[in-house]
Order: sequence, then structure tokens, then C-alpha cells
Amino acid sequence: MSRSAHPAGPRHGDVLPEGHYTAPADDLNVLDEKIWSRTVRRNEAGVATVGGIEVTRLAEEFGTPAYFLDEADFRARCRAWADAFGPGADVFYAGKAFLSRAVVRWLHEEGLNLDVCSGGELTTALAAGMPAERIAFHGNNKSAGEIERAVAAGVGRIVLDSFQEIVQVAHAARRLGKRQPVQIRVTVGVEAHTHEFIATAHEDQKFGIALAGGQAAEAVRRALGLDGLELIGIHSHIGSQIFDMAGFEVSARRVVGLLADIRDEHGVELPEIDLGGGLGIAYTAQDTPREPYDIAKALSDIVTRECESAGLRTPRISVEPGRAIVGPTAFTLYEVGTIKPLEGLRTYVSVDGGMSDNIRTALYDAEYSVALVSRRSDAEAMLTRVVGKHCESGDIVVRDAFLPADLAPGDLIAVPATGAYCRSMASNYNHALRPPVVAVGDGEARVIVRRETEEDLLRLDVGE
Ligand code: LLP
Repeated sequence: MSRSAHPAGPRHGDVLPEGHYTAPADDLNVLDEKIWSRTVRRNEAGVATVGGIEVTRLAEEFGTPAYFLDEADFRARCRAWADAFGPGADVFYAGKAFLSRAVVRWLHEEGLNLDVCSGGELTTALAAGMPAERIAFHGNNKSAGEIERAVAAGVGRIVLDSFQEIVQVAHAARRLGKRQPVQIRVTVGVEAHTHEFIATAHEDQKFGIALAGGQAAEAVRRALGLDGLELIGIHSHIGSQIFDMAGFEVSARRVVGLLADIRDEHGVELPEIDLGGGLGIAYTAQDTPREPYDIAKALSDIVTRECESAGLRTPRISVEPGRAIVGPTAFTLYEVGTIKPLEGLRTYVSVDGGMSDNIRTALYDAEYSVALVSRRSDAEAMLTRVVGKHCESGDIVVRDAFLPADLAPGDLIAVPATGAYCRSMASNYNHALRPPVVAVGDGEARVIVRRETEEDLLRLDVGE
């Protein structure tokens, strides 16, 4: 992953990166079920459908670009996580991946809890009727106003991220005559990304309180000494898009080590640990994510084993998957515009969206897949780069993609696995209008977040 990006994007002039797959799939018409949401198929006419509805019809009714979210898949993933962890554990969906009131209602109906990390997410959660006690409030720089609202609403837990906040939350709780359940977020010295994890000195970042140097132990001491706080557990989140469970193993071991120290020093066994989110999903055919059941088993085995050897009662475990629930459930539908073959290099395919609806490629070098979905094609494969319509050469949606050589303006192409961190990180760059999110289920499609309009843009611009 690039750490210092070129101003126009981390990589933008090269052909295929080293080690990248260089061959197209055998049949470009196949919509790999590993990458596409569960109800996506290609029908006999060659048109892709989701929830039984043809994408051509969806484009006519809702326009492009647009995100289509497969409600049945979203609900099934919620249930799979809840069932995998069982009644003895808690699953908190991480709202930062994508949040809307409809999604909050689905979560509520499927029995999940919700992790929010801003006043805006808290407002959305409460407005959609999520019971406050099922909400966890996160953030490394919560404002006094956000803390006050979270405590007043009665959120189930506030995850304390700094020494300052321990005092702020305690004061807010006292002022409101409450005792606020809290967890302390610790940094365990593990940073994990995708295929590897690094268990060395990764305290050099803004989140949490370091285990190293006894800082977390000091935070626990202070929290236990304040009337307004009920310390219920320790929280650790080690990264995102992780496939390797080894990072979680180290993290769990270190958190349980802290629980043992707390028992030894204070005579209390904290009842909960939260191991955060971060489980990876398949963006391309090369990715192999784990099933929730395997993840749940691996995590609970590690925690149980570590607790047994420390002579602790096993705490209640919670997790906070965001991407793993919503990521695979949506695709972005675009219309093809300009097509520019660059002799000896590749063909640039421009779509009607871009970095304003998916910043992940430019920001993280993220890889995506793409397919022609408005028709079947048996033309040979051509190497393309799918780019947006923004005034920036780093405006890339899919860096390296094979599409049929007869691709033409007006065709619809879709990028799968865009449910997480695409609409939630969308921008108005170049005064783009952020696309709608359309929920598709049971043969029906409905807008759950509407498309922005030029009126919306002018409404924010006071014009003076
Ligand atoms: N819990 C905490 C405390 C977190 O900070 C995060 C994500 C999650 C849970 C959910 O992680 P997930 O299961 O979704 O990986 N914008 C980046 C990802 C940032 C993740 C930030 N924290 C991306 O597009 O890849």
C-alpha cells in the first residue's frame, strides 16, 4: 500500500503492478458469486439482475451512477454474524461503513447492535429507532456536545479513547445524574492489513491508549476511581480488510493479559472485551475471506484459551464488523461514456461517476472488479482502466480491468463490493452530485438515500 501518494493518486501511469493477474477470466460474462451480492444473476437475455430486477430497468428508473444494495443479502449477513457469535456475544455493525435510517431498521430487526463514531451517526441511529442501549459510541476526539448527547440518550457504551475523555465522560455523567457504561480502547501494538500483520511498535497513531508503558493500566485505574463511570470492558481494533487471524490472536492475548493485571491490582474481573472490526471481504477473485462462523470460533477459542490460562472467567465478547456485512451487498452501476484506446497501453473507459462516489482506489490503491452488465458479450477481452469524470488523472475507479472489446458508449458496467466506505466517503468534488442508494429486495427497488440535486448544492452555498 502506498504511504506517500503521487498528488494525482498513488499510482497512475503504470501498466499492471508487479504480481498482478495478467490474464482475463475465461468468460467475462460470469458474475462470480464470491464478489457479487447474493441475488445477482445474469438472465437469459444476458442482462444482470439483482433481486430479480434487470439493471437496465434500474438504470432507467433511478439513473446512473447509483449504488444498488441487496437487502436480502444484507439481512442474511447480519443473521450469519449474529448466529455465528450466538447469544453469548454481541455483534455491533460499524455504521461508518454505510449508514442510513433504513439500514438501522434492518439491523434492529435482525438483532444487531450499532457502533457509531460521530454525532451525525448517533442522530441517524436514534432517528431510526435503534434503542440507545444497543449503541456504542466511538471516536478519538468526541466533542463535549457529542459526549453530552450520548450520555443523555443512554447509549449502551462509550468507548473511551484518551485520558481527557475519561474525565469528560465522567463529568457529563455526573452532571446528568447517570453512571455511564464505558470501555477503554487500548492499542495493543498490532497493526494488521489484509494479508499480513505487524506486531511491533504500532503505537504511533492517534487511536486509543497504549498498553505499552503501563498507560492502559493507568487509564483503568482512573476510570475505576470515578463515580460517573462503570468500566465494563476493554476494546481493541487492529485495522481493516484483514484476512489473517494472527493479528486478532495477538490482540486478544494482550487484552486478556490486561484483564488479568486488572484483577490482580483491583480485584475486579471486567465482564467484556471487544475485538473491533476489520474482517476482509472479496473485491477480486483473488481474495478469500473467512466465513463469520470460522471467525467467531477462532476468536472465542483464543479468548477462552487465554482466559483459562490466566485463571479468568471468560468475558462476553463483542465485535464490530462494518465492511464484512455491507461491503459485498452493493454494486455501483455506471454508464459508459468516452472510450479511449491508448496504443500499446490499454483502453481508458470513462464512466459518469468516479472518485466522488468511490475514493478508495485513489486513496488506498484499492482493487475492484468490473463487468459489463447491460448485455452479454462474446467479444475478446481488452485491458482497460475504468476512470471517472473528474478533473484529475488519479480519478480511477478500477485500475486494471478486462472488459469486452466491443464495449460501447451507453453500455452499463457495474463495480461490485462497493457497499462499504463508498457512499459513506463520497464527496461533491467538482460539484458532483452524490449518487442515490437504492435498496433492492423481493422484486422491488426503493431509494433509501436519494440522489443529490443541484438545488442541494445551491442550498448550502449561501450566495453572499
Ligand atoms: N470498529 C472500529 C473501532 C473501527 O475503527 C472500524 C473501522 C470498525 C470497527 C469497522 O471496520 P471494518 O469491519 O469495516 O473493517 N475507510 C477505510 C476503512 C476505515 C476503517 C476505519 N475503522 C476503507 O475504505 O478501507
